[in-house]
Amino acid sequence: MNQLVISGGKRLEGSMEVHGAKNSVLPILAAAVLSGSVSIIHNCPRLTDVEATLEILRHLGCRVQREGHTVIVDSSTLDRCDIPEGLMREMRSSVIFMGALLARTGEARVCMPGGCELGPRPIDLHLSALRRLGAEIREMGGSLRCRGRGLHGGEIALTIPSVGATENAMLAACGAEGLTVIYNAAREPEIWDLQQFLNACGGRVSGAGSSTVVIQGGRALHTGEHRVISDRICAATYLSAAACAGGEVELTGVPREQLLPVTEVFVQAGCRVRTEAERVWLRSEGALKSVSPVRTAPYPGFPTDAQPPVLAALCRAKGSSVFVETMFENRYRYTMELARMGAQIRVEGRVAVVTGVPCLSAAAVEAPDLRGGAALTVAALAAQGESRITGLRHIDRGYEDIAARLRELGAEVRRTTDSVSP
Ligand code: EPZ
Repeated sequence: MNQLVISGGKRLEGSMEVHGAKNSVLPILAAAVLSGSVSIIHNCPRLTDVEATLEILRHLGCRVQREGHTVIVDSSTLDRCDIPEGLMREMRSSVIFMGALLARTGEARVCMPGGCELGPRPIDLHLSALRRLGAEIREMGGSLRCRGRGLHGGEIALTIPSVGATENAMLAACGAEGLTVIYNAAREPEIWDLQQFLNACGGRVSGAGSSTVVIQGGRALHTGEHRVISDRICAATYLSAAACAGGEVELTGVPREQLLPVTEVFVQAGCRVRTEAERVWLRSEGALKSVSPVRTAPYPGFPTDAQPPVLAALCRAKGSSVFVETMFENRYRYTMELARMGAQIRVEGRVAVVTGVPCLSAAAVEAPDLRGGAALTVAALAAQGESRITGLRHIDRGYEDIAARLRELGAEVRRTTDSVSP
């Protein structure tokens, strides 16, 4: 069994460049099928979700090559439009291939996607957006058959600014004749990044970053080259680690405004924070104060994905802090594992109240999902003694070599593989 073994209590010091954003690179890789040409994508992190996406591309007949952090996808050889259930279940973002395949081939045969178990994660908004562009979709059991020869542009009004539904609609709209307008679109930086990639391939997309995205579809796309933005949630995780364990870290690559909701919490908690265009410094003495209620919200609000590591950092803060999770019903499972380390957290529905304790103690804990695993890592870095974290398959989905990254900052972390005794 793979484990992270963390000896807590070391201050974190140093500078780190944040790797490419998982939630940007996944839809961009799916979008690489649109052009029927070569896409050169830089800053692709080495994550299991990225590798699973490359596997889907290979299954579809694309040629895929990785050179360090650059991935080259040649989709001229794409010759199928189905994705097997095993690959679809690897991660939630596999659903974005629906829009991409419809635009490229007029057909997509997929099934309900997998991903972190954060509560019900319907795809009704994805399906209604694609139907709006003329796709016919039949749902049978867990499988989805989509046909969309002759997609046409249209107006899509999302009832929730869903990140995935916005991305799916953008990709399908590239293959639809005429103009598509997406109202109440998600405003996350990853949507803007997808727009930049599509435009680098000859697409005409505008408005990403605002609530209205406009796509002029039916244009022939060509070879494109793009650098993926840095991962703001990884940045938030490493800031949480330094805030909790104490120390001084500098993170580069993420625009300061993308981290503002998170840095604001740490300023309130008593950390010193300085920011420049794409640079954030955080200094913490490890003794934090409680903060005013943190409510997750779509961008530019406080990101749901940063809720677990930031909450973990506040487990040692003096006083009580309240978190309200508005996105996903089941995003507090990690708090039961934090309790094993001595954290005092009361969860009722979507609200968690964290009452700080003077010190956390090391424990053997299991990551229940990706960001829950990040939260346990943050707490273990500050806990007294040696913690062991299992369930690394979750953490590996979103953090490139987290043990090595933390060692660069002076943490005592190693990854071990215990052989199972007979
Ligand atoms: C993206 O998920 C991210 N994943 C998630 O990252 C992130 O937590 C989430 O956006 C919110 O920021 C990727 O980008 C691959 P949504 P997505 O559609 O697109 C409801 C991580 O840890 N909804 O914006 O699935 C939904 O249930 C993760 O990296 C519907 O009701 O999120 C949720 O309450 C996990 N019907 C809300 O909308 C739909 O058809 C927002 O979800 C779609 C969504």
